[in-house]
Amino acid sequence: MEKTLLLIKPDGVKRGLVGDVLARVERKGYTIGALAMVNATEDLLGEHYVEHREKPFFPELVEYMTAGPIVAAIIEGARVVEGIRSLCGSTEPTAAAPGTIRGDLGRDWGNGQIENIVHSSDSVESAEREISLWF
Ligand code: RTP
Ligand code: MG
Repeated sequence: MEKTLLLIKPDGVKRGLVGDVLARVERKGYTIGALAMVNATEDLLGEHYVEHREKPFFPELVEYMTAGPIVAAIIEGARVVEGIRSLCGSTEPTAAAPGTIRGDLGRDWGNGQIENIVHSSDSVESAEREISLWF
């Protein structure tokens, strides 16, 4: 069975959106295979966001992702990687389509940081790699 990693980022947890996000995943029909609350370290985030480690926004991304606990979930189902990416919506919450998690629940807070509530794996290979980091 295909699996993906979904993270509810610190802004999502702080705003009390864990239930809403997980309810959307369940209503879509996918299975929650595992759940954990994790305080991410800079080392973990450097591995998780390896493609962004050298980018100028990486220090701010670490600050954002270490601002509080993260809820990590393994979600299971046929074509779940593609399905959960679609459910999350595009990166920028202001532009993300209504009906998606980021489009419905996120906004620009004017602090220069893209706070977008969730992360989801972008391929089956990334999902396997990321699940082994968080679980
Ligand atoms: P994610 O990996 O978290 O699921 O998000 P994504 O695929 O939609 O976007 P990605 O390009 O992988 O970026 C990862 C996260 O880094 C933050 N970001 N900040 N300041 C910036 O220019 C910038 N660009 C990206 C966002 O939190 C984004 O979700
Ligand atoms: Mg990404």
